[in-house]
Parts: sequence; C-alpha cells; structure tokens
Amino acid sequence: MPKITFVTFDGTKYEVEAQDGATVMEAAVKNGVPGIEAECGGACACATCHVYVDEAWTDKTGEPQAMEEDMLDFAQDSNETSRLSCQIKMTQELDGVVIRIPEFQA
Ligand code: FES
Repeated sequence: MPKITFVTFDGTKYEVEAQDGATVMEAAVKNGVPGIEAECGGACACATCHVYVDEAWTDKTGEPQAMEEDMLDFAQDSNETSRLSCQIKMTQELDGVVIRIPEFQA
C-alpha cells in the first residue's frame, strides 16, 4: 500500500498508508489526520480538502483538472502547488508522497 506523509502547519508529521485507488483526502480522514475537512465528501465541490503537494512530487501528482482548478479559487492561500486532496488518487507510483496541510481551510 502506498504511503503518504502529511505535514501539518505546525510541522507535525503523520505517516499513513493508503489503499491503492483511495484518494489522499480519504487516507487523511480515515487515519484521523487533522486539517482536512472535506465537507463535500470528495465531490470536488467544497475546497475544504485543500493541500499543498511537496514540490518534489508535483510532477507525479500532475495538474488539476478544470473543475478542480475552478474550486481551488475558493481555497485560502492557494499557490501553484495547491491541489484538492480528494482529486489525487493514490497509486504505487505515489508511494512516499509528501503532502502539506494549510493552516486554515476556506
Ligand atoms: Fe470537497 Fe475535496 S472534499 S472538494
């Protein structure tokens, strides 16, 4: 199972295992990682699952789709590494990915 390291705003690290095919958001919620609210349950309709992908991993996680890009406008303090974590599906290729959680969700 691919691993994800979440780093919260205060620097706390959480290393979790994700089911293959699960989203980064689902792995965070299932493992009690704080800071990802995911109000819409993964429908790309709330932007409260906003995260920053560590720069070493942005090539592998890829670019947001148009709908995600639109929703990211509602995320607080988004930047070029911002993604909605419900739109990143975990695969073995992403094993070890580092995801940073913003201080606040929108
Ligand atoms: Fe709502 Fe990701 S959980 S957009």
